[in-house]
Amino acid sequence: MKLSIIGTGYVGLVTGTCFAEVGHHVICVDNDAAKVKLLQAGGIPIYEPGLEELVKKNVAAGRLKFTASTAEGVQNSDVIFIAVPTPPQPDGAVDLSYIERVARDIAAAMTSYKIVVDKSTVPVKTGEKVAETIKRYCAAKVEFDVVSNPEFLREGFAVDDLMKPDRVVIGVSSPRPAAAMREIYTPFNAPIIVTDINSAELIKHAANSFLALKISYINAVANICEAAGANVQEVAHGIGLDDRIGRRFLNAGIGFGGSCFPKDLSAFIKISEQIGYKFELLKEVQRINADQMDRFVKKITDTLWVLKDKKIGVLGLAFKQNTDDVRSSPAIDLCHRLLKEGATLRVHDPKAMDKAKSLLPNVTYVDDMNAVAEGCDAIVVATEWDEFKQLDLARAKKALTHPIIFDGRNLFDPAEMEKLGWIYKSVGR
Ligand code: UDX
Repeated sequence: MKLSIIGTGYVGLVTGTCFAEVGHHVICVDNDAAKVKLLQAGGIPIYEPGLEELVKKNVAAGRLKFTASTAEGVQNSDVIFIAVPTPPQPDGAVDLSYIERVARDIAAAMTSYKIVVDKSTVPVKTGEKVAETIKRYCAAKVEFDVVSNPEFLREGFAVDDLMKPDRVVIGVSSPRPAAAMREIYTPFNAPIIVTDINSAELIKHAANSFLALKISYINAVANICEAAGANVQEVAHGIGLDDRIGRRFLNAGIGFGGSCFPKDLSAFIKISEQIGYKFELLKEVQRINADQMDRFVKKITDTLWVLKDKKIGVLGLAFKQNTDDVRSSPAIDLCHRLLKEGATLRVHDPKAMDKAKSLLPNVTYVDDMNAVAEGCDAIVVATEWDEFKQLDLARAKKALTHPIIFDGRNLFDPAEMEKLGWIYKSVGR
């Protein structure tokens, strides 16, 4: 089918590329002319495993194109996906102005029937507003349908999640667009659920809030484990084997971050309130998440006492492993907390150092993770990168003034670390 995707961020670029990979003809549109130029020249603006190869392959096959013109995208496709940012506002609501702007641009360019699909994460009832807007601004007065098709990809696994989705959710207000949407997704061999638009929008917010709730739950359990002398990983294993619960998203640590969970929780709380329900449960999820960082910082200050003039090596800046994304990253938050206490920092991340530089200008960036500990008083693990498990512990021990590690992601084994002579503090163990 002929598709266009408006917005070439994490969701738009990966979605467009994977649609091309299964044989659709895709035009990716972005109003950032520099980004479009970069993509046209074969550059990739984000790090996402497997993406670069797929982009190259599909551009070469003539199935994937980039343009800065919305009209070009709209007029050369049957289905138009909106994948623009919906950033948070100070009161927790999301800023829907990019969606509204794109809806107007699409409306102005439409000269025949189109299906307009919202892929960005939006509060329930946004689809209704998009439909109203297109109707109002459509100069040619042609027919159209609005569809909600939320995206569930995880950064760092985006290509995999898109090529092999758990499910595809399609929210429609009439049967007409459902057939085309099924056709687009048939090559992905995933269960397809067709709902009304409001339900589809709610599925996204409810799914992400539930996952965040799961993490706050295990973090709360981790705190009980610390008080009781138990091990949260054993507890997580024990409860996770119940397949009604499941082991995934039960990793205790310094809390969740990223561009989705914090924003989606706030937005879900806000829209619930606006339509008449106070979602207190989700407010507690937020509170536990904030508290988790406070508790970890306290663990550091309880051990190192005064942080002024202490040098700390930080492993990890990204909000999680396998990504260069530092938006709402707990690791960056932790660095700010340590800097505020007067510590100086030597930091390393396998992929996120470039993106961290504007947020953390006054730290020393270290290219080799094994050199982070040089002259430091302690090491802190802030992101769950697998490769940190391969840290040269003997070298780090020699480089530190005292062998102290604060492991905010439970990457090492406490008994093993103790045997090696480390003062080792992790979460819930
Ligand atoms: C999330 C959802 O998983 C995805 O389905 C949705 O489309 C977008 O939001 P993402 O933001 O890429 O994806 O990150 P995710 O892998 O969910 O991790 C979010 C945060 O939770 C990270 O900071 C991670 O470190 C943290 N986390 C995750 C934990 O602290 N413990 C866990 O057990 C899992």
